[in-house]
Amino acid sequence: MTEKAELRFGDQTIELDIVEGTEGERAIDIQDLRAKTGLITLDPSYANTGSCESSITFINGEEGILRYRGYPIEEIAEKCSFLESSYLLIYGELPTREQLDEFRESVRYHTMLHEDFRLFYRAMPKDAHPMASASAACASLATFYPDSLDPRDPREVEIGVHRLIAKLPTLASYAFKHSIGQPFMYPDNRLSYVGNFLHMMFATPCEPFEVDPVVEKALDLLFILHADHEQNCSTSTVRLVGSSHVNLFASISAGINALWGPRHGGANQQVIEMLQAIAAEGITGRDFVERAKSNDDTSRLMGFGHRVYKNFDPRAKIIKKACFDVLSRLGVHSKLLEIAVELEELALKDDYFVERKLYPNVDFYSGVIYNAIGTPENMFTAMFAIGRLPGWIAQWQEMHDHKHKIGRPRQVYQGATQRAVTPIEQR
Ligand code: SDX
Repeated sequence: MTEKAELRFGDQTIELDIVEGTEGERAIDIQDLRAKTGLITLDPSYANTGSCESSITFINGEEGILRYRGYPIEEIAEKCSFLESSYLLIYGELPTREQLDEFRESVRYHTMLHEDFRLFYRAMPKDAHPMASASAACASLATFYPDSLDPRDPREVEIGVHRLIAKLPTLASYAFKHSIGQPFMYPDNRLSYVGNFLHMMFATPCEPFEVDPVVEKALDLLFILHADHEQNCSTSTVRLVGSSHVNLFASISAGINALWGPRHGGANQQVIEMLQAIAAEGITGRDFVERAKSNDDTSRLMGFGHRVYKNFDPRAKIIKKACFDVLSRLGVHSKLLEIAVELEELALKDDYFVERKLYPNVDFYSGVIYNAIGTPENMFTAMFAIGRLPGWIAQWQEMHDHKHKIGRPRQVYQGATQRAVTPIEQR
């Protein structure tokens, strides 16, 4: 028996179905609201609005729970690799050894970029932000691979998916190499997925390069923790753009652009720049926390707060622990980590943050590790994009696997009512 909600408006009373999820979340199904009442709902940042029913990722923001396909993020982080987690998100089940090997081999096969991409990057300014070149390069993959553009052809979609997973690290490393004037490094497919990325980022043709297993494992963990997060800003963008039936490359390019914003994935770069500024200015953590309470977007405590988590972001807890582990194994002392820990301790005891339920999110500590392994700040969000790619793909595919319409929100018009055009001589 479907539970109902009653809506009374004027002399009309209608019943609306309640949709219940497997974790007990409930929603009012308003798909017939306008047809039945002429009313629409208004929810500008969609804080109260579900855009879809999904089986990919579950978040309980009050309890700080995150699960990929039902598996707790803590267990996946401990027991799986990033490619294994990607397979889980995209195909819905953990792979067998044979399935994982097949997936890994297919990805390996597609890591190289068309040689003309060198010209593409050469056309970019040296200081081009890697997110600008990554989104442009990602969209232009559609011009190189016309055989994987039809979103309704499962074979074309699958080869497009494997190409994207394989090539985004190569695209990102090309952006980095171009920015430092070093030659692009071809993928070395004898290496792991993450090892190959580190090789393309930090190797040069002149010197032998050994992948540091500590760094390799830390980056694999960070990619896992960023892999999906239900209907966040960039994933909702990928779904909305994808609902027009444009190809996967263009949909993901839109997601990269949404992620770039400082309120979203761009926050990881902002956090490190914030920590570096505090260190450079020699101000205390208390000074900065007081400034962060000034309540304007310019001096926020970046890496804190979240639309959904009103408790600890479970990813932040795992990354904080990894920070100490990786830095001690690398023998690196990080002043930035010290400052971050002080800021967290101060904020968690400060009424302003406690009342607003502002806790560290995924971006608060991730940059400390990226920084410790030698990644430049402007590459941090590109790393986030590599991690988030399987989630974007899984969400895009889930939309296409179900009957769906083009995403097209309505509005409440508050502009001028009808008026006549005055001849310019009389204006
Ligand atoms: C990600 O959605 C996802 O799942 C995203 C993500 C993912 O995996 O995809 O988790 C990744 O984007 C993490 C968030 C990264 N962004 C930041 O760290 C930027 C700093 N944080 C904020 O800008 C903010 O907390 C947001 C954008 C993350 C969330 O914003 P909300 O939910 O819209 O909350 P809000 O901006 O309305 O803030 C509520 C109050 C306001 O104060 P009042 O007007 O009530 O007085 O809290 C204050 C804000 O000023 N506030 C902060 C703050 N975040 C919110 N004050 C100081 N420092 C902060 N960081």
